[in-house]
Amino acid sequence: MKNARPALAVMLAAWMASPLAGQDARIKIDVDRTIGEVSDLIYGNFVEHLGRCVYGGIYDPGSPMADENGFRKDVMEAVKDLNVTLARYPGGNFVSNYHWLDGVGPWDERVPRLELAWSTMESNQFGTNEFMKFVREVGTEPYFAVNMGTGTIEEAQRWVEYCNVAEGPYYAELRKKHGFEEPHNIQYWSLGNEMDGFWQIGHLNAEDYCKKAREAAKMMRLTSPGIKLIAAGSSNYRPNADPNAWNAAVLAELRDVVDYIALHIYVGNPDNNYYNYMSTPLVCEDRTQIVKGMILKEMEQAERGERDPIYIAWDEYNVWYRARTSADMMGNRALEEHYNLEDALVIAGFLNVFVRNADVVKIANMAQLVNVIAPIFTSEDELFRQTIYFPLQLFSEHMHGTSLDLHVECETYDTEQFFIGLAESTTRQEDVPYLDASATYRDGEVVLCVVNRQMEEPVTTEIISQEGSFKGEFRVYEVNGPDIKTMNDFGSEPVKTVQKENIRVRGDRFTYTFPPHSFTLLKGTIE
Ligand code: AHR
Repeated sequence: MKNARPALAVMLAAWMASPLAGQDARIKIDVDRTIGEVSDLIYGNFVEHLGRCVYGGIYDPGSPMADENGFRKDVMEAVKDLNVTLARYPGGNFVSNYHWLDGVGPWDERVPRLELAWSTMESNQFGTNEFMKFVREVGTEPYFAVNMGTGTIEEAQRWVEYCNVAEGPYYAELRKKHGFEEPHNIQYWSLGNEMDGFWQIGHLNAEDYCKKAREAAKMMRLTSPGIKLIAAGSSNYRPNADPNAWNAAVLAELRDVVDYIALHIYVGNPDNNYYNYMSTPLVCEDRTQIVKGMILKEMEQAERGERDPIYIAWDEYNVWYRARTSADMMGNRALEEHYNLEDALVIAGFLNVFVRNADVVKIANMAQLVNVIAPIFTSEDELFRQTIYFPLQLFSEHMHGTSLDLHVECETYDTEQFFIGLAESTTRQEDVPYLDASATYRDGEVVLCVVNRQMEEPVTTEIISQEGSFKGEFRVYEVNGPDIKTMNDFGSEPVKTVQKENIRVRGDRFTYTFPPHSFTLLKGTIE
Protein backbone atom coordinates (compact mmCIF):
# COMPACT_ATOMS: atom_id res chain seq x y z
CA MET A 1 0.00 0.00 0.00
CA LYS A 2 2.93 2.28 0.76
CA ASN A 3 3.77 2.73 -2.90
CA ALA A 4 0.21 3.11 -4.06
CA ARG A 5 -0.07 6.88 -3.64
CA PRO A 6 3.09 7.88 -5.54
CA ALA A 7 2.20 5.42 -8.30
CA LEU A 8 -1.28 6.92 -8.57
CA ALA A 9 0.13 10.44 -8.60
CA VAL A 10 2.61 9.53 -11.31
CA MET A 11 -0.16 7.98 -13.39
CA LEU A 12 -2.36 11.02 -12.85
CA ALA A 13 0.45 13.40 -13.80
CA ALA A 14 1.14 11.36 -16.94
CA TRP A 15 -2.54 11.36 -17.79
CA MET A 16 -2.80 15.15 -17.21
CA ALA A 17 0.17 15.67 -19.50
CA SER A 18 -1.18 13.40 -22.23
CA PRO A 19 -2.54 15.25 -25.24
CA LEU A 20 -6.03 13.84 -24.74
CA ALA A 21 -6.28 14.42 -20.96
CA GLY A 22 -9.90 14.16 -19.86
CA GLN A 23 -11.11 13.51 -23.40
CA ASP A 24 -11.15 10.63 -25.84
CA ALA A 25 -10.30 12.88 -28.74
CA ARG A 26 -9.57 16.40 -29.85
CA ILE A 27 -10.38 18.23 -33.08
CA LYS A 28 -8.66 21.54 -33.76
CA ILE A 29 -10.23 23.91 -36.28
CA ASP A 30 -8.09 26.65 -37.75
CA VAL A 31 -9.94 28.81 -40.26
CA ASP A 32 -6.59 29.97 -41.65
CA ARG A 33 -5.49 26.44 -42.56
CA THR A 34 -7.34 25.94 -45.81
CA ILE A 35 -7.27 23.17 -48.42
CA GLY A 36 -9.34 24.57 -51.27
CA GLU A 37 -12.82 25.55 -52.35
CA VAL A 38 -15.39 22.79 -52.10
CA SER A 39 -16.95 22.35 -55.53
CA ASP A 40 -20.75 22.13 -55.47
CA LEU A 41 -20.40 19.44 -58.13
CA ILE A 42 -19.18 16.85 -55.62
CA TYR A 43 -22.83 16.32 -54.65
CA GLY A 44 -23.81 14.64 -57.91
CA ASN A 45 -25.54 11.37 -58.79
CA PHE A 46 -25.73 9.11 -61.79
CA VAL A 47 -28.61 7.98 -64.01
CA GLU A 48 -27.88 4.93 -66.16
CA HIS A 49 -30.19 2.98 -68.45
CA LEU A 50 -29.96 -0.03 -66.18
CA GLY A 51 -32.53 -2.00 -64.21
CA ARG A 52 -35.20 0.30 -62.78
CA CYS A 53 -33.15 3.48 -62.64
CA VAL A 54 -34.78 5.15 -65.66
CA TYR A 55 -37.81 2.95 -66.47
CA GLY A 56 -39.80 2.41 -63.27
CA GLY A 57 -37.54 4.85 -61.43
CA ILE A 58 -37.51 8.40 -62.67
CA TYR A 59 -39.70 7.64 -65.72
CA ASP A 60 -42.91 5.65 -65.38
CA PRO A 61 -45.58 7.10 -67.69
CA GLY A 62 -48.15 4.43 -66.77
CA SER A 63 -47.91 5.16 -63.06
CA PRO A 64 -50.61 7.11 -61.17
CA MET A 65 -47.63 8.91 -59.55
CA ALA A 66 -46.41 10.23 -62.92
CA ASP A 67 -46.73 13.83 -64.10
CA GLU A 68 -47.59 14.88 -67.67
CA ASN A 69 -44.01 14.07 -68.78
CA GLY A 70 -44.13 10.58 -67.33
CA PHE A 71 -41.80 11.50 -64.42
CA ARG A 72 -42.54 10.06 -61.00
CA LYS A 73 -43.56 13.02 -58.85
CA ASP A 74 -42.48 11.36 -55.60
CA VAL A 75 -39.06 10.62 -57.08
CA MET A 76 -38.68 14.21 -58.22
CA GLU A 77 -39.48 15.44 -54.71
CA ALA A 78 -36.90 13.10 -53.18
CA VAL A 79 -34.31 14.18 -55.77
CA LYS A 80 -34.98 17.85 -55.08
CA ASP A 81 -34.66 17.27 -51.32
CA LEU A 82 -31.34 15.56 -51.96
CA ASN A 83 -30.03 18.77 -53.61
CA VAL A 84 -28.47 16.80 -56.47
CA THR A 85 -26.04 19.20 -58.16
CA LEU A 86 -24.92 17.13 -61.16
CA ALA A 87 -26.55 14.16 -62.91
CA ARG A 88 -24.36 11.93 -65.07
CA TYR A 89 -26.16 10.20 -67.97
CA PRO A 90 -26.77 7.73 -69.76
CA GLY A 91 -24.05 5.33 -68.47
CA GLY A 92 -21.98 3.63 -67.29
CA ASN A 93 -21.34 0.47 -69.22
CA PHE A 94 -24.58 1.14 -71.09
CA VAL A 95 -23.16 4.11 -72.96
CA SER A 96 -20.51 2.06 -74.71
CA ASN A 97 -23.17 0.46 -76.90
CA TYR A 98 -25.62 3.39 -77.01
CA HIS A 99 -26.43 5.45 -80.08
CA TRP A 100 -28.01 8.67 -78.94
CA LEU A 101 -29.99 9.13 -82.18
CA ASP A 102 -32.04 6.05 -81.23
CA GLY A 103 -33.40 8.00 -78.25
CA VAL A 104 -34.62 11.22 -79.86
CA GLY A 105 -37.59 12.15 -82.03
CA PRO A 106 -41.20 10.91 -82.06
CA TRP A 107 -41.71 8.03 -79.62
CA ASP A 108 -43.47 5.81 -82.14
CA GLU A 109 -40.48 6.02 -84.47
CA ARG A 110 -37.89 5.01 -81.88
CA VAL A 111 -36.61 1.49 -82.33
CA PRO A 112 -35.88 -0.92 -79.49
CA ARG A 113 -32.33 -2.28 -79.40
CA LEU A 114 -30.56 -5.16 -77.76
CA GLU A 115 -28.60 -3.70 -74.88
CA LEU A 116 -25.45 -5.75 -74.48
CA ALA A 117 -23.77 -4.24 -71.42
CA TRP A 118 -26.51 -5.49 -69.12
CA SER A 119 -28.11 -8.07 -71.48
CA THR A 120 -31.50 -6.52 -71.84
CA MET A 121 -33.75 -4.62 -74.27
CA GLU A 122 -33.61 -0.85 -74.53
CA SER A 123 -36.93 0.62 -75.68
CA ASN A 124 -35.40 4.08 -76.28
CA GLN A 125 -38.60 5.70 -75.06
CA PHE A 126 -36.44 7.81 -72.74
CA GLY A 127 -33.48 9.67 -74.24
CA THR A 128 -31.66 12.99 -74.41
CA ASN A 129 -34.67 15.30 -74.38
CA GLU A 130 -36.55 13.41 -71.68
CA PHE A 131 -33.45 13.47 -69.50
CA MET A 132 -32.98 17.19 -70.10
CA LYS A 133 -36.60 17.87 -69.15
CA PHE A 134 -36.09 15.85 -65.99
CA VAL A 135 -32.91 17.62 -64.86
CA ARG A 136 -34.38 21.05 -65.59
CA GLU A 137 -37.42 20.08 -63.54
CA VAL A 138 -35.35 19.01 -60.52
CA GLY A 139 -32.79 21.82 -60.87
CA THR A 140 -29.73 19.69 -61.60
CA GLU A 141 -26.78 20.27 -63.93
CA PRO A 142 -26.51 17.61 -66.69
CA TYR A 143 -23.30 15.67 -67.36
CA PHE A 144 -23.25 13.47 -70.49
CA ALA A 145 -20.96 10.57 -71.33
CA VAL A 146 -20.28 9.82 -75.01
CA ASN A 147 -19.92 6.37 -76.51
CA MET A 148 -16.20 5.60 -76.97
CA GLY A 149 -16.91 1.88 -77.35
CA THR A 150 -19.03 1.22 -80.44
CA GLY A 151 -19.47 4.94 -81.14
CA THR A 152 -17.42 7.07 -83.50
CA ILE A 153 -15.86 10.43 -82.83
CA GLU A 154 -18.28 11.87 -85.38
CA GLU A 155 -21.25 10.50 -83.48
CA ALA A 156 -19.95 12.19 -80.33
CA GLN A 157 -19.54 15.48 -82.21
CA ARG A 158 -23.08 15.26 -83.59
CA TRP A 159 -24.51 14.76 -80.12
CA VAL A 160 -22.74 17.92 -78.95
CA GLU A 161 -24.12 19.72 -82.01
CA TYR A 162 -27.65 18.45 -81.29
CA CYS A 163 -27.44 19.59 -77.66
CA ASN A 164 -25.40 22.78 -77.74
CA VAL A 165 -25.55 24.51 -81.13
CA ALA A 166 -28.35 27.06 -81.33
CA GLU A 167 -29.21 26.75 -85.02
CA GLY A 168 -27.88 26.12 -88.50
CA PRO A 169 -26.29 22.71 -88.90
CA TYR A 170 -28.39 19.58 -89.41
CA TYR A 171 -28.36 18.20 -85.86
CA ALA A 172 -29.09 21.57 -84.25
CA GLU A 173 -32.08 21.91 -86.57
CA LEU A 174 -33.10 18.33 -85.78
CA ARG A 175 -33.32 19.23 -82.09
CA LYS A 176 -35.51 22.18 -82.97
CA LYS A 177 -37.69 19.90 -85.10
CA HIS A 178 -37.99 17.65 -82.04
CA GLY A 179 -39.53 20.54 -80.13
CA PHE A 180 -36.50 22.00 -78.38
CA GLU A 181 -35.97 25.47 -79.82
CA GLU A 182 -33.27 26.44 -77.34
CA PRO A 183 -30.01 24.47 -77.07
CA HIS A 184 -29.59 22.35 -73.94
CA ASN A 185 -26.12 23.83 -73.31
CA ILE A 186 -24.59 20.78 -71.68
CA GLN A 187 -21.31 21.82 -70.18
CA TYR A 188 -19.87 18.54 -68.87
CA TRP A 189 -19.01 15.67 -71.23
CA SER A 190 -17.00 12.58 -70.50
CA LEU A 191 -14.98 10.80 -73.16
CA GLY A 192 -16.31 7.30 -72.64
CA ASN A 193 -16.76 5.12 -69.59
CA GLU A 194 -14.30 2.71 -67.92
CA MET A 195 -12.47 2.14 -71.19
CA ASP A 196 -9.68 0.29 -69.34
CA GLY A 197 -12.11 -2.43 -68.23
CA PHE A 198 -12.12 -5.69 -70.19
CA TRP A 199 -15.88 -5.83 -69.53
CA GLN A 200 -16.46 -2.58 -71.39
CA ILE A 201 -17.95 -2.93 -74.85
CA GLY A 202 -15.29 -1.66 -77.23
CA HIS A 203 -12.62 -1.79 -74.48
CA LEU A 204 -9.35 -0.19 -75.63
CA ASN A 205 -5.77 -0.17 -74.48
CA ALA A 206 -4.44 3.14 -73.16
CA GLU A 207 -2.76 4.13 -76.40
CA ASP A 208 -5.84 3.53 -78.53
CA TYR A 209 -8.13 5.17 -76.00
CA CYS A 210 -6.01 8.30 -75.84
CA LYS A 211 -5.88 8.61 -79.64
CA LYS A 212 -9.64 8.24 -79.96
CA ALA A 213 -10.45 10.48 -76.99
CA ARG A 214 -8.12 13.23 -78.24
CA GLU A 215 -9.78 13.32 -81.67
CA ALA A 216 -13.28 13.18 -80.17
CA ALA A 217 -12.32 16.04 -77.83
CA LYS A 218 -11.07 18.07 -80.78
CA MET A 219 -14.33 17.67 -82.72
CA MET A 220 -16.52 18.23 -79.67
CA ARG A 221 -14.67 21.43 -78.67
CA LEU A 222 -14.68 22.79 -82.19
CA THR A 223 -18.46 22.37 -82.08
CA SER A 224 -19.00 23.82 -78.60
CA PRO A 225 -15.86 25.62 -77.37
CA GLY A 226 -16.84 26.14 -73.73
CA ILE A 227 -17.45 22.52 -72.78
CA LYS A 228 -15.58 20.74 -69.99
CA LEU A 229 -14.16 17.35 -70.87
CA ILE A 230 -13.57 14.40 -68.58
CA ALA A 231 -11.19 11.58 -69.53
CA ALA A 232 -11.88 7.98 -68.49
CA GLY A 233 -9.37 7.18 -65.77
CA SER A 234 -8.82 3.82 -64.17
CA SER A 235 -11.64 1.58 -63.03
CA ASN A 236 -9.89 -1.77 -63.26
CA TYR A 237 -8.25 -2.63 -59.93
CA ARG A 238 -8.28 -6.36 -60.44
CA PRO A 239 -5.04 -8.08 -59.47
CA ASN A 240 -3.61 -8.27 -63.00
CA ALA A 241 -4.52 -4.70 -63.95
CA ASP A 242 -2.30 -1.63 -63.76
CA PRO A 243 -4.55 1.33 -62.95
CA ASN A 244 -1.63 3.66 -62.25
CA ALA A 245 -0.14 3.01 -65.67
CA TRP A 246 -3.51 3.77 -67.29
CA ASN A 247 -3.96 7.01 -65.33
CA ALA A 248 -0.41 8.13 -66.04
CA ALA A 249 -0.86 7.49 -69.77
CA VAL A 250 -4.21 9.28 -69.92
CA LEU A 251 -2.84 12.31 -68.09
CA ALA A 252 0.32 12.45 -70.16
CA GLU A 253 -1.48 12.09 -73.49
CA LEU A 254 -4.60 14.14 -72.81
CA ARG A 255 -3.41 16.78 -70.38
CA ASP A 256 -3.82 19.58 -72.91
CA VAL A 257 -7.39 18.66 -73.87
CA VAL A 258 -9.19 17.43 -70.76
CA ASP A 259 -10.33 19.22 -67.61
CA TYR A 260 -10.90 16.21 -65.36
CA ILE A 261 -9.88 12.59 -65.03
CA ALA A 262 -12.70 10.25 -63.99
CA LEU A 263 -12.14 7.63 -61.29
CA HIS A 264 -14.55 4.98 -60.02
CA ILE A 265 -14.70 3.09 -56.75
CA TYR A 266 -17.14 0.62 -55.24
CA VAL A 267 -16.62 -0.89 -51.83
CA GLY A 268 -18.42 -3.47 -49.73
CA ASN A 269 -18.36 -5.67 -46.69
CA PRO A 270 -18.41 -9.19 -48.15
CA ASP A 271 -16.57 -10.64 -45.14
CA ASN A 272 -18.85 -8.90 -42.66
CA ASN A 273 -15.97 -7.20 -40.85
CA TYR A 274 -17.21 -3.83 -39.64
CA TYR A 275 -13.85 -2.23 -38.85
CA ASN A 276 -12.24 -3.28 -42.11
CA TYR A 277 -15.26 -1.96 -43.96
CA MET A 278 -15.23 1.38 -42.13
CA SER A 279 -11.72 2.03 -43.44
CA THR A 280 -12.63 1.65 -47.14
CA PRO A 281 -13.08 5.40 -47.83
CA LEU A 282 -9.36 5.68 -47.06
CA VAL A 283 -8.68 3.58 -50.16
CA CYS A 284 -10.46 6.33 -52.10
CA GLU A 285 -8.26 8.88 -50.33
CA ASP A 286 -5.07 6.93 -51.17
CA ARG A 287 -6.07 6.73 -54.84
CA THR A 288 -6.94 10.43 -54.84
CA GLN A 289 -3.48 11.26 -53.52
CA ILE A 290 -1.76 9.05 -56.08
CA VAL A 291 -3.64 10.61 -58.99
CA LYS A 292 -3.11 14.09 -57.55
CA GLY A 293 0.62 13.42 -57.66
CA MET A 294 0.35 12.39 -61.31
CA ILE A 295 -1.66 15.50 -62.13
CA LEU A 296 0.93 17.72 -60.43
CA LYS A 297 3.69 16.04 -62.40
CA GLU A 298 1.87 16.67 -65.67
CA MET A 299 1.03 20.24 -64.76
CA GLU A 300 4.66 20.86 -63.92
CA GLN A 301 5.77 19.43 -67.23
CA ALA A 302 3.16 21.35 -69.18
CA GLU A 303 4.40 24.70 -70.33
CA ARG A 304 3.59 27.39 -67.84
CA GLY A 305 0.19 28.85 -68.60
CA GLU A 306 -0.46 26.15 -71.20
CA ARG A 307 -3.84 25.39 -69.73
CA ASP A 308 -6.10 25.30 -66.68
CA PRO A 309 -5.54 22.71 -63.98
CA ILE A 310 -6.83 19.16 -64.26
CA TYR A 311 -9.10 17.90 -61.51
CA ILE A 312 -10.41 14.54 -60.34
CA ALA A 313 -14.02 13.49 -61.02
CA TRP A 314 -15.00 10.57 -58.79
CA ASP A 315 -17.94 10.13 -61.13
CA GLU A 316 -18.94 6.72 -59.75
CA TYR A 317 -18.61 5.88 -56.08
CA ASN A 318 -20.78 3.85 -53.76
CA VAL A 319 -21.24 0.71 -51.74
CA TRP A 320 -22.02 -2.18 -54.08
CA TYR A 321 -21.43 -5.80 -53.18
CA ARG A 322 -24.68 -7.59 -52.39
CA ALA A 323 -26.58 -7.25 -55.70
CA ARG A 324 -23.56 -8.26 -57.70
CA THR A 325 -23.93 -11.91 -58.54
CA SER A 326 -24.63 -12.55 -62.20
CA ALA A 327 -28.33 -13.32 -61.72
CA ASP A 328 -28.89 -10.03 -59.89
CA MET A 329 -26.79 -7.99 -62.26
CA MET A 330 -29.08 -8.38 -65.23
CA GLY A 331 -32.69 -7.70 -66.08
CA ASN A 332 -35.29 -5.44 -64.70
CA ARG A 333 -34.31 -5.63 -61.03
CA ALA A 334 -30.58 -5.34 -61.53
CA LEU A 335 -28.28 -4.00 -58.82
CA GLU A 336 -31.03 -3.37 -56.28
CA GLU A 337 -28.78 -3.00 -53.26
CA HIS A 338 -30.56 -2.56 -49.92
CA TYR A 339 -28.45 -0.38 -47.64
CA ASN A 340 -27.96 -0.37 -43.87
CA LEU A 341 -26.47 2.01 -41.32
CA GLU A 342 -22.85 0.90 -41.76
CA ASP A 343 -23.19 1.66 -45.50
CA ALA A 344 -24.38 5.18 -44.65
CA LEU A 345 -21.30 5.68 -42.45
CA VAL A 346 -19.06 4.59 -45.33
CA ILE A 347 -20.80 7.10 -47.61
CA ALA A 348 -20.19 9.84 -45.04
CA GLY A 349 -16.55 8.69 -45.09
CA PHE A 350 -16.38 9.09 -48.88
CA LEU A 351 -17.84 12.58 -48.62
CA ASN A 352 -15.30 13.47 -45.93
CA VAL A 353 -12.57 12.33 -48.35
CA PHE A 354 -13.94 14.53 -51.15
CA VAL A 355 -14.06 17.58 -48.84
CA ARG A 356 -10.61 16.85 -47.38
CA ASN A 357 -9.28 16.76 -50.96
CA ALA A 358 -11.27 19.74 -52.18
CA ASP A 359 -8.24 21.18 -53.95
CA VAL A 360 -8.29 18.34 -56.49
CA VAL A 361 -11.67 16.54 -56.27
CA LYS A 362 -14.10 18.82 -58.07
CA ILE A 363 -16.76 16.36 -59.26
CA ALA A 364 -18.28 13.33 -57.56
CA ASN A 365 -21.33 11.28 -58.49
CA MET A 366 -22.85 8.74 -56.19
CA ALA A 367 -23.74 5.81 -58.45
CA GLN A 368 -26.63 5.88 -58.91
CA LEU A 369 -29.85 7.85 -58.23
CA VAL A 370 -32.94 5.61 -58.14
CA ASN A 371 -33.32 1.85 -57.47
CA VAL A 372 -29.97 0.79 -58.96
CA ILE A 373 -27.36 0.98 -56.15
CA ALA A 374 -29.25 4.10 -55.19
CA PRO A 375 -30.27 6.39 -52.34
CA ILE A 376 -33.92 6.44 -53.51
CA PHE A 377 -35.93 3.24 -53.86
CA THR A 378 -39.37 2.82 -55.41
CA SER A 379 -42.13 0.25 -55.77
CA GLU A 380 -45.04 0.78 -58.13
CA ASP A 381 -46.71 3.18 -55.72
CA GLU A 382 -44.27 3.89 -52.90
CA LEU A 383 -40.81 5.26 -52.27
CA PHE A 384 -38.36 5.13 -49.40
CA ARG A 385 -35.06 6.85 -48.77
CA GLN A 386 -32.24 4.42 -48.23
CA THR A 387 -29.79 4.96 -45.35
CA ILE A 388 -27.17 6.38 -47.72
CA TYR A 389 -29.53 9.19 -48.73
CA PHE A 390 -29.12 11.02 -45.44
CA PRO A 391 -25.36 11.74 -45.22
CA LEU A 392 -25.36 12.86 -48.86
CA GLN A 393 -28.30 15.17 -48.20
CA LEU A 394 -26.61 16.70 -45.15
CA PHE A 395 -23.36 17.29 -47.02
CA SER A 396 -25.02 18.80 -50.07
CA GLU A 397 -27.13 21.09 -47.94
CA HIS A 398 -24.43 22.30 -45.56
CA MET A 399 -20.87 21.59 -46.71
CA HIS A 400 -19.89 24.50 -48.94
CA GLY A 401 -17.17 27.12 -48.93
CA THR A 402 -13.54 26.50 -48.06
CA SER A 403 -12.35 23.10 -46.90
CA LEU A 404 -10.32 23.32 -43.67
CA ASP A 405 -7.26 21.28 -42.80
CA LEU A 406 -8.34 19.86 -39.43
CA HIS A 407 -6.07 18.48 -36.77
CA VAL A 408 -7.65 15.34 -35.31
CA GLU A 409 -6.21 13.49 -32.32
CA CYS A 410 -7.93 10.25 -31.48
CA GLU A 411 -7.31 6.56 -31.09
CA THR A 412 -6.62 4.54 -34.20
CA TYR A 413 -6.71 0.92 -35.35
CA ASP A 414 -5.10 -1.24 -38.02
CA THR A 415 -7.05 -3.49 -40.36
CA GLU A 416 -6.04 -6.86 -41.70
CA GLN A 417 -5.52 -7.41 -45.44
CA PHE A 418 -9.02 -7.54 -46.91
CA PHE A 419 -11.04 -7.29 -50.11
CA ILE A 420 -12.60 -3.86 -50.44
CA GLY A 421 -15.45 -5.32 -52.48
CA LEU A 422 -16.06 -8.19 -54.85
CA ALA A 423 -13.51 -8.76 -57.63
CA GLU A 424 -11.68 -5.69 -56.38
CA SER A 425 -8.26 -5.13 -54.99
CA THR A 426 -7.26 -5.82 -51.41
CA THR A 427 -5.95 -3.31 -48.93
CA ARG A 428 -4.53 -3.10 -45.46
CA GLN A 429 -4.99 0.20 -43.64
CA GLU A 430 -2.88 1.32 -40.71
CA ASP A 431 -3.70 3.98 -38.13
CA VAL A 432 -7.33 4.31 -39.13
CA PRO A 433 -8.69 7.09 -36.90
CA TYR A 434 -11.88 6.21 -35.02
CA LEU A 435 -13.04 9.75 -35.76
CA ASP A 436 -13.15 10.61 -39.43
CA ALA A 437 -13.68 14.33 -39.98
CA SER A 438 -13.86 17.17 -42.48
CA ALA A 439 -14.91 20.82 -42.19
CA THR A 440 -15.88 23.80 -44.28
CA TYR A 441 -15.89 27.52 -43.55
CA ARG A 442 -17.86 30.27 -45.24
CA ASP A 443 -18.82 33.76 -44.09
CA GLY A 444 -17.99 33.08 -40.45
CA GLU A 445 -19.91 29.81 -40.42
CA VAL A 446 -18.07 26.57 -39.76
CA VAL A 447 -19.50 23.11 -40.49
CA LEU A 448 -17.86 20.02 -39.05
CA CYS A 449 -18.69 16.49 -40.23
CA VAL A 450 -17.62 13.57 -38.07
CA VAL A 451 -18.06 9.82 -38.43
CA ASN A 452 -17.50 7.95 -35.17
CA ARG A 453 -16.29 4.58 -36.42
CA GLN A 454 -16.43 3.05 -32.94
CA MET A 455 -19.04 0.33 -32.98
CA GLU A 456 -19.72 0.31 -29.22
CA GLU A 457 -18.09 3.39 -27.68
CA PRO A 458 -19.02 7.05 -27.67
CA VAL A 459 -16.06 9.37 -28.25
CA THR A 460 -15.96 12.46 -26.07
CA THR A 461 -14.19 15.13 -28.05
CA GLU A 462 -12.84 18.55 -27.26
CA ILE A 463 -13.44 20.82 -30.26
CA ILE A 464 -11.05 23.73 -30.32
CA SER A 465 -10.95 26.86 -32.46
CA GLN A 466 -7.38 27.96 -33.10
CA GLU A 467 -8.33 31.32 -34.60
CA GLY A 468 -11.33 33.18 -33.20
CA SER A 469 -14.00 32.08 -30.75
CA PHE A 470 -17.12 30.03 -31.09
CA LYS A 471 -20.23 32.09 -30.71
CA GLY A 472 -23.90 31.43 -30.10
CA GLU A 473 -25.37 28.03 -30.73
CA PHE A 474 -24.22 25.05 -32.78
CA ARG A 475 -26.86 23.10 -34.66
CA VAL A 476 -26.41 19.33 -34.47
CA TYR A 477 -27.65 16.79 -37.03
CA GLU A 478 -27.06 13.08 -36.55
CA VAL A 479 -27.51 10.04 -38.78
CA ASN A 480 -27.63 6.92 -36.64
CA GLY A 481 -29.79 3.93 -35.85
CA PRO A 482 -30.28 1.16 -33.31
CA ASP A 483 -27.71 -1.11 -34.92
CA ILE A 484 -25.10 -1.01 -37.70
CA LYS A 485 -27.20 -3.48 -39.72
CA THR A 486 -30.43 -1.46 -39.46
CA MET A 487 -32.05 -0.88 -42.86
CA ASN A 488 -34.80 1.40 -44.08
CA ASP A 489 -37.77 0.11 -46.02
CA PHE A 490 -41.16 1.14 -47.36
CA GLY A 491 -43.00 2.90 -44.54
CA SER A 492 -40.06 2.64 -42.14
CA GLU A 493 -36.95 4.83 -42.08
CA PRO A 494 -35.24 4.13 -38.74
CA VAL A 495 -31.93 5.40 -40.14
CA LYS A 496 -32.37 9.06 -40.93
CA THR A 497 -31.21 12.53 -39.99
CA VAL A 498 -32.27 13.65 -36.54
CA GLN A 499 -31.75 17.23 -35.44
CA LYS A 500 -30.54 17.19 -31.84
CA GLU A 501 -30.73 19.94 -29.27
CA ASN A 502 -28.55 22.95 -30.13
CA ILE A 503 -25.40 23.37 -28.08
CA ARG A 504 -24.53 26.74 -26.56
CA VAL A 505 -20.88 27.57 -27.17
CA ARG A 506 -18.61 30.35 -25.97
CA GLY A 507 -14.89 30.83 -26.05
CA ASP A 508 -12.41 28.78 -27.99
CA ARG A 509 -13.54 25.26 -27.09
CA PHE A 510 -16.44 22.99 -26.31
CA THR A 511 -16.91 19.30 -25.72
CA TYR A 512 -19.15 17.02 -27.72
CA THR A 513 -19.69 13.30 -27.37
CA PHE A 514 -20.11 11.47 -30.67
CA PRO A 515 -22.29 8.38 -30.17
CA PRO A 516 -21.10 4.98 -31.41
CA HIS A 517 -21.60 4.19 -35.13
CA SER A 518 -22.82 7.68 -35.93
CA PHE A 519 -22.42 10.47 -38.44
CA THR A 520 -22.75 13.98 -36.98
CA LEU A 521 -22.82 17.39 -38.63
CA LEU A 522 -22.19 20.40 -36.35
CA LYS A 523 -22.84 23.89 -37.68
CA GLY A 524 -22.08 27.19 -35.95
CA THR A 525 -20.20 30.45 -35.96
CA ILE A 526 -16.59 31.40 -35.36
CA GLU A 527 -15.70 35.06 -34.98
O1 AHR B 1 -22.86 1.76 -61.82
C1 AHR B 1 -22.88 0.45 -62.30
C2 AHR B 1 -21.75 0.17 -63.27
O2 AHR B 1 -20.54 0.19 -62.57
C3 AHR B 1 -21.54 1.17 -64.37
O3 AHR B 1 -22.34 0.91 -65.47
C4 AHR B 1 -20.10 0.99 -64.73
O4 AHR B 1 -19.52 2.16 -65.21
C5 AHR B 1 -19.47 0.50 -63.43
O5 AHR B 1 -18.70 -0.62 -63.64
